[in-house]
Amino acid sequence: EPIPAPSLKTCSTAYIEGNIPVPYSCCPPPLPDGMAMDDVPYYEVPECSQLRVRTAAQVVDQDFIDDYNDAISIMKNLDASDPRSFQQQANIHCAYCNGAYTTVGGKDLQVHFNWLFFPFHRWYLYFYERILGSLIGESTFALPYWNWDNPDGMYFPSMFNQPNTYPDLYDTNRSVNTQNGTFMDLNYVNTEAQTATQSQLLPSGDCSTSGFGTIENMPHTPVHLWTGTNPGTKLSNGNTSYGEDMGNFYSASIDPVFSGHHANVDRMWNIWKSFGGKRVDLTQTDWLESAFFFYDEDCNPWRVKVQDCLDTVKMGYCYAPMATPWVSYKP
Ligand code: C2O
Repeated sequence: EPIPAPSLKTCSTAYIEGNIPVPYSCCPPPLPDGMAMDDVPYYEVPECSQLRVRTAAQVVDQDFIDDYNDAISIMKNLDASDPRSFQQQANIHCAYCNGAYTTVGGKDLQVHFNWLFFPFHRWYLYFYERILGSLIGESTFALPYWNWDNPDGMYFPSMFNQPNTYPDLYDTNRSVNTQNGTFMDLNYVNTEAQTATQSQLLPSGDCSTSGFGTIENMPHTPVHLWTGTNPGTKLSNGNTSYGEDMGNFYSASIDPVFSGHHANVDRMWNIWKSFGGKRVDLTQTDWLESAFFFYDEDCNPWRVKVQDCLDTVKMGYCYAPMATPWVSYKP
C-alpha cells in the first residue's frame, strides 16, 4: 500500500527521543479554508528553460554566498506562520521525522530508515530551493552541496562558518568539529549514539537487499552526528543537548548546513544510478505512488508523488560535477 501524503489533521506533538515532547508545534500552517487533504492537487513539475546548477560549497564565489545569505536572512524574517519561513521549513523535517504525523495502520510517519528517505528529502530541498530563489528574485538560484565525498570538501564548509560576515548561514549549536578545520570522520558515531526509536515503516519490498540504503547509514547519519553538539553537553540556552541541531531529527534543519548536506546525499542518488547495472530505482507502485505534502514558493499547498522526483533534470536542476575519487570502490 502506498504511503499517502500525511493528513494535516493528524498532526500533533513531535517527540525528541520517543518520549520527550518537542517544546513547540512542528505542524505546518493549516490548509486554506474549506480545503481538505484530498482536495490538495498533485504537483506537476513546471517546464523550465534554464537548469538550476547546484555547486560544491567549497568552490562557490563571494557573490553567490552574499545572495545565499540574503535569501536565508529574508526567509528568517518572514512571519513564523508563513509556510516559507525558516522556522516552518525547519519544522517540516521535525514533523516528518519525529512522530507528528500518523499514517497507514496508525503508525507514526517516519521518512528515515526506509524507502521514503531519498524521495522525501529530494522534494523537501526542491521547494526549499525554489522558495529561497523566489525571495531574492532569482529563478535559477541553486543550493550549494557539501562535497564530503571529495577530499577538498571533507571539512565543515567555510561559507557556513563565518558568523560575522554571513550570520544567517551560521548556527551556534554545532560541535567543535566544525570550528577548527577538522578533517571529517565519515564513520563518526558519537558515544551517546542516537538510538531513535525507529518505527520501521517499510513499503513492501526488502530494503536489506540493495546498496541503496547504505548511503543513508553511512555517510549520511555520521555527518549529522559529527556536526551537531555532543549529546549530554550544555547548549548555549542552558538546555542539555540531544545532539542539536544537526544531530537530532527535530532540529537538524535549523542548521542552514542541513540543505548542503542533503544536496550531497541527493547527488549521491544520481551518482548511484549512473553506475547502472542493478542500481536502478524501484518499480513498485507502493513506492512510486507514495506522496508527501509541501507548500511551494507561492504558499500553495501540493501533494507530490515519489514517481515525479526520479529525474532531477526534469525537475529543473542538476549538480555541477566534482571528481569522485571513491568511485573505484563503489558499493
Ligand atoms: Cu532527514 Cu539527514 O535527515
